[in-house]
Amino acid sequence: MIKKTYLTLLLILVQFSTFAGINIIPEPVKVEEGTGIFTLTQATPIFAADDAKEIGLYLSAELQDATGFRLNPTTSKSTATGITLEILATPNSEIGDQGYLLESTTTKIVIQANTKHGLFNGVQTLLQLLPPEIEASTQVKADWIVPAVKISDYPRFEWRGLMLDVSRHFFTVEDVKNYIDEMARYKFNRFHWHLTDDQGWRIEIKGLPKLTEIGAWRVPRQGDWWSFDPPQKGEAATYGGFYTQEEVKEIVKYAQDRFITILPEVDIPGHAMAMLAAYPELACFKKDFKVNPGSKFFCKIQNTLCAGNPKTFEYLNIVFSEIADLFPSEYIHIGGDEVCRKWWFFCTKCQSVRRKNKLKNTEEIQSYFITEVEKMLNAKGKSIIGWDEILDGGLAPNATVMSWRGTAGGIKAASMGHKVIMSPMPYYYLDLYQGDPLFEPVTYAMARLTDTYNFEPVPAEVDEKYVMGIQGCLWTESVSEYRHAQYMTWPRAFAIAESSWTPTANKDWTKFIAKTEHHFKRFDQRKIRYARSMYDPIVSVIKEDGKLKIKMETEFEGLTIHYTFQGAEPDFSYPVYDKPVTIPRNPKLLRVVTYKEGKQVGNSMVLPIDQLKARAGF
Ligand code: ACM
Ligand code: ZN
Repeated sequence: MIKKTYLTLLLILVQFSTFAGINIIPEPVKVEEGTGIFTLTQATPIFAADDAKEIGLYLSAELQDATGFRLNPTTSKSTATGITLEILATPNSEIGDQGYLLESTTTKIVIQANTKHGLFNGVQTLLQLLPPEIEASTQVKADWIVPAVKISDYPRFEWRGLMLDVSRHFFTVEDVKNYIDEMARYKFNRFHWHLTDDQGWRIEIKGLPKLTEIGAWRVPRQGDWWSFDPPQKGEAATYGGFYTQEEVKEIVKYAQDRFITILPEVDIPGHAMAMLAAYPELACFKKDFKVNPGSKFFCKIQNTLCAGNPKTFEYLNIVFSEIADLFPSEYIHIGGDEVCRKWWFFCTKCQSVRRKNKLKNTEEIQSYFITEVEKMLNAKGKSIIGWDEILDGGLAPNATVMSWRGTAGGIKAASMGHKVIMSPMPYYYLDLYQGDPLFEPVTYAMARLTDTYNFEPVPAEVDEKYVMGIQGCLWTESVSEYRHAQYMTWPRAFAIAESSWTPTANKDWTKFIAKTEHHFKRFDQRKIRYARSMYDPIVSVIKEDGKLKIKMETEFEGLTIHYTFQGAEPDFSYPVYDKPVTIPRNPKLLRVVTYKEGKQVGNSMVLPIDQLKARAGF
């Protein structure tokens, strides 16, 4: 008898490890594993009272594609079997307005929350408890089981965001919806939409039609960003696109249905060349401007709006009135970063405004500019967020600061009692290398998954109450296709999701890697692209005992590195790296690959030795 019980237990355990197990990203606050499993069938009822019905419909739609089950939610109350979604009659103060309680047993699953948003987050956790096949878009065979578990969960931060730059490259309505969909699965709740920049204006403004007629288009270029030739004489601007206001409304609604608030950004007074191409009269010195295709220009060609021309504020008022009407967000992002202020120094109109307002220098002109825009938006019932340069010359009275040049801007703004969002470039920028620069698509700096995951976003000197939250930013200078945008986002956005939600004490790198590998299987089902760079070795050249040697490390335990200095692609039979290897005299290339549990997991990398030496300064 005892033997039989053990056998059953063993079978259940094997089933768990074969199927989903508990691999929730972001890691919940409290998880108590139970015994047994719940099995979803075509007869499983979903109970959702009227106040939870829309979440019930979302869940049944999510379950339908892969299972083929049509589990229409019903409002009749039963708690004996099936899945129950319930808004708590007596609010639970611990889980707040986005948390949830989830309990699964062999007979039922109950998700409770104070709000629909909380229930939605609970549903995301339930979907992650089902096997990866649940992500398939057509019917597949799988055991639709959920392990017995009791979860109590709520977020660390109110603001859990990702930014997508659609100016440097235009992404379609479908791409943007897909991005929002993926965010919702990982409990992000803010989508920062970087809609305007030097390389394109992407939102229809009915009162200023040239912004998209002219500003949304540039000459086509391919290759490495910043090396592009400027527009040639007579060359047609055919590359780009924009969102109509109808499309914007559709996307706003799509995001709202997933409890994501869109933060629109109109980047001013710098980064405004697309606006100047449309309305050159807004520059300090009027010229025939063209939308920049990605050529070097900073402080060579004007991309700054004139601060002394009343028309600038008149036009911005038109832009922000329409933006304020389109987006329900309490906040509007006004940019404020990387302003070339030299035009203001030489411009008589700007200097006259400086004297009139007793401003000392161009930094104070910037502060004046942002404060004028803040007044404009406050009058429309909106608050502003700006990049940390809005601290220069004095912070506008009600502004929130997005700290991107490290954490210094966030620390300073918090010390002044302003709210901050931490988005420091070295950790949370998603356009950076995530593996060896000699192998990855070209960009400009490094943020490996380890760097992103291990970063603690609240510096010791900052009172956490000023930190609204954190955000990953995907700038797209070197990201021209949506599939590549996915590659740059995942898995680093898993790390940001976990840091935005999970208490620091619950974070665990080793467990996170195991969960990430599990979620790769889910992405395979959904055909989402992701980077496998975390499997690649970190290769460097060091000097040891007077000799130059190759040193190789991995981001996590359990990988075996095989290498060769010969011409063939290495596999499991090639030498295993265990300590720094002396560089032989003649070879030009190092070839490496990593294996895990007997299977190739890393990319097959070919690295020029001279370049490895050069970057180490040898
Ligand atoms: C920025 O990266 N210029 C905000
Ligand atoms: Zn000016």
